[in-house]
Amino acid sequence: MRKKIVAGNWKMNKLLPEAVSLVKDIGSLLVSTKMPQNTRLIVCPPNLYLSPLNNFLEIANLSEKISIGAQNCHQETKGAYTGEVSATMLAKLKIPYVILGHSERRAYFGEDSALLKAKVDQALTAGLQVIFCCGEKLDVREAGTHFELVGQQLQESLFHLSADDMKKVIIAYEPVWAIGTGVTASPAQAEEMHKHIRQLVAKKYDKSLADNTTILYGGSCKPTNADALFACPNVDGGLIGGASLKAASFVAILEALIKS
Ligand code: PGA
Repeated sequence: MRKKIVAGNWKMNKLLPEAVSLVKDIGSLLVSTKMPQNTRLIVCPPNLYLSPLNNFLEIANLSEKISIGAQNCHQETKGAYTGEVSATMLAKLKIPYVILGHSERRAYFGEDSALLKAKVDQALTAGLQVIFCCGEKLDVREAGTHFELVGQQLQESLFHLSADDMKKVIIAYEPVWAIGTGVTASPAQAEEMHKHIRQLVAKKYDKSLADNTTILYGGSCKPTNADALFACPNVDGGLIGGASLKAASFVAILEALIKS
């Protein structure tokens, strides 16, 4: 059975004490939550907080319920890359997940498919699981070429992987026009793209691998729309920005996933 995941992308938000409080509050709200075996809750804070939060989760006995992920990593193992962090550094700190290909990285840091392919390789080699983001901008959707665009993003950055490596990839479909805008893809729009992605994975690999691939939806997902999105058969959870910055809304989204 494929994993169901709610992952919070905190982006460049929260000071350290606020970050610790948020994780503490999430933990308190989870006290009576029965996490099904196939369900994961992940928080992706800024790099500086990865280690302190991972240590805190362990001390507070929360690491069974909450996992940590990074928001990015570099494409090289080590070297003269001022300001960067390698996948190996993350792995050695016992950070299990890394988000790659977020639309903000693509737009503001010039990350293209070739670079993301190298980052994906680096992350998988280091032993991380990748949350790979794909999704179209508004003009592409309006032109009706969104299926092709997402297919191309997967083809150029993921489909060179062996089946064994592909099993360690979680795909997040995040239509750029829905990120941080309050406009969400309708459940029908999300489902048709997720189904398309699953079919592409099946065509490239096989049906069983595709059926076991977790495909998250991201883009203004919140407690009020999570039920409807997670009711879609091909939506396996969410990558959450704004609504992951408050414990109550983040946990409400997890509850919606558990119920689905
Ligand atoms: P949002 O962000 O939930 O605030 O739209 C999602 C994301 O950027 O991953």
